[in-house]
Amino acid sequence: METTLVSQSLDRVEADAVVVLLFEEETAPAELKRFSPWLDELRTSGEFTGKTGELAVQHQPQGLKAKRLAVAGGGKKDKFDPAVLRRAVGTAVRALKQKGVKKLAWWLAGTGDADAEAAVEGAILGNFEPDRHKPSSDAKSLEAFILVAPESARPAFERGKILGEAQNFTRELVNEPANIMTPTLLADRARVMATEVGLEFEMLDESRMRQLGMGSLLGVSQGSAEPPALIIIRYKPGTPAKTKDHLGLVGKGVTFDTGGVSIKPADGMEKMKYDMAGGAAMLGAMRAIAQLKPSIPVTALVPAVENMVGSKAQRPGDIVTSLSGKTIEVLNTDAEGRLILVDAITYAQRLGCTHLVDAATLTGAIVVALGNVNIGVFTNNDALLARVLAAAKAEGEKSWHMPLDDDYKDLLKSAFADLANIGGRWGGAISAAYFLKEFAGDTPWVHLDIAGTAWLDESKPFLAKGPSGVAVRTFTRLALDW
Ligand code: BES
Ligand code: ZN
Ligand code: ZN
Repeated sequence: METTLVSQSLDRVEADAVVVLLFEEETAPAELKRFSPWLDELRTSGEFTGKTGELAVQHQPQGLKAKRLAVAGGGKKDKFDPAVLRRAVGTAVRALKQKGVKKLAWWLAGTGDADAEAAVEGAILGNFEPDRHKPSSDAKSLEAFILVAPESARPAFERGKILGEAQNFTRELVNEPANIMTPTLLADRARVMATEVGLEFEMLDESRMRQLGMGSLLGVSQGSAEPPALIIIRYKPGTPAKTKDHLGLVGKGVTFDTGGVSIKPADGMEKMKYDMAGGAAMLGAMRAIAQLKPSIPVTALVPAVENMVGSKAQRPGDIVTSLSGKTIEVLNTDAEGRLILVDAITYAQRLGCTHLVDAATLTGAIVVALGNVNIGVFTNNDALLARVLAAAKAEGEKSWHMPLDDDYKDLLKSAFADLANIGGRWGGAISAAYFLKEFAGDTPWVHLDIAGTAWLDESKPFLAKGPSGVAVRTFTRLALDW
């Protein structure tokens, strides 16, 4: 989709449809005065009252060059923020593209930069369809999105475009089925992306990982015929960094999670192709970071493996030695995310990362706790937590701080190794996070459990069913605001 910014009056905008946001109980703005009878009729009939999600369309609007004029509900004016706008634009895009609109303009009346950014994001995200492998799909797409806004909004507009496209890049990766998206292909896609945007790419293969002693990661991958990969992508600021800080982004890249020998039930197992959504989010964030050029060095590490049940698969009771030297008793082979992440965390520390953030579809328990709305956030450092939560809030990615007291430590006791890889039935998202914390040590670290938020089981008016690309914008913003 082509995305452009123009500064024009409403009547001169050329498009298949031009959309204007209207709040509840708002009288028509000056530009829409001549449409007052229509708007009054919409309100009195109850067809359009300005509530979020509403949309009303008029063909051949008098005096406009656009073929259609649409009004979109903005909800209550005092509840309005960029997140509301992002959804309103996405909703209009999804509704109107299905009606055959190819070129859609959004009229943004002189509002702030955050709105321009969110509007473009909403359009790009709303236009995404997970139908690459469905030739019979009847989902339609926009060809062009035009943001009608003051010229001063251009930098924000460009930022929104980069962020939206990076998030869709992540969604494309997550959407691929696991027979296609193997660890090797994920690494290839990462390499191509890194080359395109000018980032350093490196991949550690199985023999290198064995040499280094990543026994925890390799234990997970040994049951699969697909070789593992540790993807490493580096961003360095152009001018010498003003900070000694070095941000490490670690993402879970399990391209398919059968559970291993502790196998998962068949029902719903197909969804486990999204178990690499944390890794894909880091790749999307790096793509945006390369283009937006924050002033802090950032290194992404994505351990990519397939958790399978081959004859060489690890067994419950196996004891592995992690890169850190800590031994782990694998009581459940389905708790594999933490096993691959800890070796990547230790390696990130060796690469000099001073601050670590990880994202992982880590536990079913976080879905029980927070549903599909909030990301679960865990930390060993309140200052870094504050930065991550501020970034998430600014980007409209709902996040909730979960506890991680030392009282949870006992859950991970093993009689035969330093740690067990599971902590029993209760507080499952917390014991998983605590396991990671044991390896983060003194390094400031924040963990995002995105198991409930990285995949939509049903489409929303503003977003298709399938991969959400959650956390890409949060991580990019975190680096930009450092
Ligand atoms: N990938 C799963 C977590 C998951 C579950 C993600 C549901 C998305 C939706 C993870 O590897 C896993 O299987 N975790 C286990 C841990 C348990 C064995 C302690 C879980 O959550 O059941
Ligand atoms: Zn698992
Ligand atoms: Zn998993």
